[in-house]
Amino acid sequence: NEGALWGGRFESGPAAAMAALSKSTHFDWVLAPYDVRASQAHARVLHKAGLLADDDLAAMLDGLGRLAADVASGEFVPSESDEDVHGALERGLIDRVGPEVGGRLRAGRSRNDQVATLFRMWLRDAVRRVAAGVLDVVDALATQAAAHPSAVMPGKTHLQAAQPVLLAHHLLAHTHPLLRDVQRLRDFDVRAAVSPYGSGALAGSSLGLDPEAIAAELAFDSSAENSIDATSSRDFAAEAAFVLAMIGVDLSRMAEEVILWSTPEFGYITLADAWSTGSSIMPQKKNPDVSELTRGKSGRLIGNLTGLLATLKAQPLAYNRDLQEDKEPVFDSVAQLELLLPAITGLVSTLEFHTDRMAELAPAGFTLATDIAEWLVRQGVPFRVAHEAAGACVRVAEARAVGLEDLTDDELAGVDPALTPDVREVLTVEGSIASRNARGGTAGIRVAEQLGGVRQLSESL
Ligand code: ARG
Repeated sequence: NEGALWGGRFESGPAAAMAALSKSTHFDWVLAPYDVRASQAHARVLHKAGLLADDDLAAMLDGLGRLAADVASGEFVPSESDEDVHGALERGLIDRVGPEVGGRLRAGRSRNDQVATLFRMWLRDAVRRVAAGVLDVVDALATQAAAHPSAVMPGKTHLQAAQPVLLAHHLLAHTHPLLRDVQRLRDFDVRAAVSPYGSGALAGSSLGLDPEAIAAELAFDSSAENSIDATSSRDFAAEAAFVLAMIGVDLSRMAEEVILWSTPEFGYITLADAWSTGSSIMPQKKNPDVSELTRGKSGRLIGNLTGLLATLKAQPLAYNRDLQEDKEPVFDSVAQLELLLPAITGLVSTLEFHTDRMAELAPAGFTLATDIAEWLVRQGVPFRVAHEAAGACVRVAEARAVGLEDLTDDELAGVDPALTPDVREVLTVEGSIASRNARGGTAGIRVAEQLGGVRQLSESL
């Protein structure tokens, strides 16, 4: 059992299938740079506790520095016999400084507190990268909103024509969930910034080592209050997996619209060549693959979250080897978003909007009916009556196959005498939009205000 981290009480090494099952270097190697940094901090607390002589500390730090460089350059990689990243790096250190010095590093720590710490370090960095990518998408949406301050479109509920809105209002609607996701990622960090290092296998360290010193050196806010909890809980990982899945779900809602909008039936947008694909058989095709992959990968991100929660469920305290299954789903969610986010930013920033087509469709489906009812309310008519009258206008217009704005004065008065020709002031898409000027509404001044707010918030995150 050459190079293993244990063996004293064993007569034989693991069976080949046992070793194959146990192995994690093919995915946990991404933790290697964090492992070396944590080892450097650990060496210093060993020295401070009087467990490592001055020259041994110097040799160890020198060896770890060279090991870090060799990991970064790809010179040092896990070997076939390494079980995990921790064992591989101990082998690498001993290769560089010899067993006498290299064999001292492991005192007072366990792979259980190591892996819990390194996973937190990796995830805190990864989440910052993801947040930056999400803010790029927000910026692309805000820039498109700013470029189309007065373009109108059909607003829908149930995917049916509802009320006209500003395109900018609709685009900004997608920024808010994404900004909340970034806030969630920032908030996650508050709880993730607690270091398990010094918890040992579960019970803490007896060697007079200082967990707070390591925590500070590794940029954590504090060290763990309970070593059993610190080595066995992974709610931090589940929390991140949730936010990553939520980002996927939020992006998928936008992606679905891009897919619909790019069909000839909608005709709202044209996708840039660089962010679409063709068909191997149908020469005319231009497919919205970025959006479809977003929709598809959102399912994968949900799967990563539910898989992780299922792994964590009902595990007794403290560390169990089940926990080795915690990393791949989270690594995968981050990797998928790192692929998706730049592509979505590219897609959104290059969307070409057919604003004439959207304006033409904005009043279609009698979307101004609510405006008639509300105009009547302003004339003192009870809303129940007004709603009936506006509905009757729709019936008359539908029977004649015209829009509400095409009803004659006589037709209007025939529905309800209160419907004087003055009602025409709200029977335009622009009039309808301008009238919805309460906070959060679709009126141009409100949307401009909102754009400023979105920009300000995204810069503050
Ligand atoms: N590779 C393990 C993990 O990812 C850490 C090793 C802990 N192993 C152990 N036998 N205690 O969780």
